[in-house]
Amino acid sequence: MSNTPRKLPDAAIRLGVVVIVIVTAVVVVVSLLPASIKDRKLQRAAAIEREQAHELQYAGAVVCADCHEAEVNLKKDGYHRNVSCETCHGAAKGHTENPVDIKPPAPRDRQFCPTCHAYNQSRPKGFPQINPVTHNPVKPCITCHRPHDPKPPTVPGECTACHAGIERTKSVSPHALLECTTCHVTPEQHKVTPRTVKPTKPSAREFCAQCHGKDSKVDGPPKIDVATHGEKYLCWQCHYPHMPEVSRE
Ligand code: HEC
Ligand code: HEC
Ligand code: HEC
Ligand code: HEC
Ligand code: HEC
Ligand code: HEC
Ligand code: HEC
Ligand code: HEC
Repeated sequence: MSNTPRKLPDAAIRLGVVVIVIVTAVVVVVSLLPASIKDRKLQRAAAIEREQAHELQYAGAVVCADCHEAEVNLKKDGYHRNVSCETCHGAAKGHTENPVDIKPPAPRDRQFCPTCHAYNQSRPKGFPQINPVTHNPVKPCITCHRPHDPKPPTVPGECTACHAGIERTKSVSPHALLECTTCHVTPEQHKVTPRTVKPTKPSAREFCAQCHGKDSKVDGPPKIDVATHGEKYLCWQCHYPHMPEVSRE
């Protein structure tokens, strides 16, 4: 029986080594960490600095008014009064600083508006919703709804009383936003004795050319060359004026 000191079991030695390594590692790592990770105050200060270093993308709702009074005025009393300009036109800080070279996109596409208006049960009750598949398909939404004042198209109530069919046809056509009286000068008396006092009707191709002729100053309607398009025929011999469809193959 030897009287050499009792050896620690191997397992305990290994455990001791592991503990020492871990403790050393923690001490080293903690001492190497930058102060800003360990100190909450420094941490916040660093976060603020980091966020401030990002380039600002949005210009905010106010500056647009400096240069786009018309759109701002149109929107401020309409249904979209609470939808900000940049919701639809994207972040536009760059544009406000260099309006000529940097143009924000305008969402003219039919796909865009249903992001908010496609029927979805989870939307708030009463929020105006449509089914994009069946609601006046194919045409861009902005054919019938002005994006800055998107009220559904209406006609003067009195015409509807007697010409409801024409009104219904027109309200889903590319001419939805044109008032009846754009094309028919209507004396008040027509509403009382309609068969004796009649409104005017366009009588010449030049009438439609005001908006569709290639020299027309009216912005928006598609243009044709009146001298050659449809030749000698009246426009409405080929295009029903209350539903001027164009077939495209
Ligand atoms: C410093 C003046 C200025 C400011 C501020 C400004 N714009 Fe403009 N914007 C212009 C000019 C100039 C045009 C070009 C007009 C033209 O080409 O007829 C323009 C054109 C546009 C267009 C049409 C682009 C196109 O392709 O036709 C949109 C959309 C637009 N701006 C949105 C905005 C929005 C949104 C804001 C606010 C975030 C804004 N603008 C702020 C001057 C400005
Ligand atoms: C609901 C989406 C929406 C909002 C909100 C909106 N716009 Fe527009 N904007 C459009 C669309 C779509 C067009 C393209 C209209 C067209 O081609 O007939 C457009 C066109 C424009 C144009 C080009 C001129 C024109 O009328 O075609 C300018 C400038 C403009 N918007 C500025 C603004 C400003 C400024 C605001 C905020 C006051 C704003 N928009 C808010 C969707 C929007
Ligand atoms: C960011 C969401 C948003 C987008 C995108 C948007 N709208 Fe709207 N729209 C609204 C809100 C909000 C209202 C007002 C709802 C209310 O009055 O309760 C509204 C109202 C309307 C209305 C009035 C409906 C009624 O009550 O009679 C029409 C029409 C409309 N929008 C068409 C459009 C068209 C067209 C576009 C695309 C150019 C568009 N919207 C894009 C949020 C949006
Ligand atoms: C009280 C009913 C009534 C009202 C209201 C009314 N109309 Fe008429 N309108 C008629 C009748 C009836 C005719 C004749 C139809 C016929 O002769 O076949 C007519 C004919 C017309 C014609 C064709 C004229 C022609 O020479 O062929 C036009 C265009 C017209 N209306 C436009 C309008 C417009 C625009 C309004 C609203 C500003 C309006 N009407 C309001 C009843 C009405
Ligand atoms: C051809 C014309 C036309 C086109 C294109 C059109 N609409 Fe309409 N929209 C109308 C008319 C007319 C009404 C009112 C009668 C009705 O509710 O159908 C209306 C009503 C609405 C309403 C109000 C619904 C409610 O219950 O209050 C919303 C929102 C709307 N449209 C959004 C859109 C959107 C989004 C698009 C494109 C995807 C679009 N519209 C395309 C003609 C059109
Ligand atoms: C873009 C111009 C335009 C608009 C907007 C317009 N009309 Fe017409 N309308 C015409 C033309 C052109 C004719 C003549 C068609 C012909 O002689 O064959 C006509 C003919 C008529 C007629 C005679 C019967 C018929 O169907 O040919 C009536 C009634 C009429 N319009 C009522 C209306 C009413 C009501 C509205 C509004 C809901 C309206 N129009 C909007 C251009 C227009
Ligand atoms: C006050 C201006 C105005 C007058 C006048 C006018 N239009 Fe239009 N027309 C428009 C507008 C706006 C549109 C719709 C453009 C769009 O889809 O955004 C349109 C659309 C059309 C289209 C459809 C084009 C397409 O690509 O789908 C035809 C066809 C057309 N008009 C024919 C006529 C005829 C025929 C007349 C004369 C009876 C006429 N227009 C008078 C403004 C006018
Ligand atoms: C002989 C028949 C005929 C006559 C008359 C006619 N058109 Fe057309 N129009 C067409 C056809 C077919 C198309 C479609 C093919 C094309 O674009 O050439 C069309 C297309 C159009 C378009 C759409 C162009 C585009 O680029 O989207 C407009 C706007 C238009 N016509 C307006 C008129 C006007 C305004 C008149 C009278 C000055 C008129 N048309 C006379 C047959 C006719």
